[in-house]
Amino acid sequence: MVRVKMMAAAAMTGLLAVSALAGCGDKDAAGGSDDGKLVMGFSQVGAESGWRTANTNDIKAAAPAAGIELKFSDAQGKQENQISAIRGFITQKVDVIAFSPVVTSGWDAVLKEAKDADIPVILTDRAVDSQDTSLYKTFLGSDFVKEGKEAGDWLVKDSAGKTGPINVVELQGTTGAAPAIDRQKGFADAIAANPNIKIVKSQTGDFKRADGKTVMEQFLQSTPKIDVLYAHNDDMGLGAIEAIEAAGKVPGKDIKIITVDAVKDGMTALAAGKINYIVECSPLLGTQLMELAKKVHAGESVEQRILTQETTFTQEQAKAALPDRKY
Ligand code: AHR
Repeated sequence: MVRVKMMAAAAMTGLLAVSALAGCGDKDAAGGSDDGKLVMGFSQVGAESGWRTANTNDIKAAAPAAGIELKFSDAQGKQENQISAIRGFITQKVDVIAFSPVVTSGWDAVLKEAKDADIPVILTDRAVDSQDTSLYKTFLGSDFVKEGKEAGDWLVKDSAGKTGPINVVELQGTTGAAPAIDRQKGFADAIAANPNIKIVKSQTGDFKRADGKTVMEQFLQSTPKIDVLYAHNDDMGLGAIEAIEAAGKVPGKDIKIITVDAVKDGMTALAAGKINYIVECSPLLGTQLMELAKKVHAGESVEQRILTQETTFTQEQAKAALPDRKY
């Protein structure tokens, strides 16, 4: 009897799951959802950092506020998952596809499939390296090269007058991802004219706190003199702080730390003196993304590149900004 009841409950759960899926954004024959809403398929990178969580939350809140039905898919850091999510969105005939590409390369085939199906694509947060820019309508996000340059400019200023060697270790973001490539370049360009500032170690920490900690532990073991840590995001910097403290050193003093993002945890560490400088990268792209989706769906022309507004923070500025920091 118990077994029969369990089977009936399982069958019911299965039915509910299927009908929830079927009812969620099913398009009628003419396109659009059953209730006439614009349907957006969004493929997110994953949940690797505080920035990513804030970005996901912002997009999930902005869609209903704009009257858009969102089909959200988490790629868990894997390009193949993003490609199959996009293919799924094409099969479901969503109105607009938006995605934040895990890496820059390898998108042409699936983007062409979306174009052939007449579904406009919006890149958000990260770029692709496709030569054919007609494969997407627009790219909304930060200038990552500028972010890296601002990080390097701060170090050059902070090092003014110092003639001895300044050894920098770099925690890079995900290999092949636009922010990792561009933040490395911007920083290297900024310090290039100062031969005493040297990047002595550079390795990926995949934008994750745990990896930032592990790689920093290795840096500390293998490199006798580390003056500066440049981390491509706050999370890796925060993981590295744990490793630095465990090694008996004082973050922000014995080793100066520069990061990118300015999420609440990063800003808290900056205000506490454990980080020295943060270059902001805003995750709040949702509202702009929804406006763009409506425009491209209506066939209106939009700018090919839309830059996000952002700033930089010193320790004093972080103290002032923290009480109002939303993410
Ligand atoms: O693409 C934006 C970057 O991705 C953020 O700086 C980082 O924290 C995230 O994981």
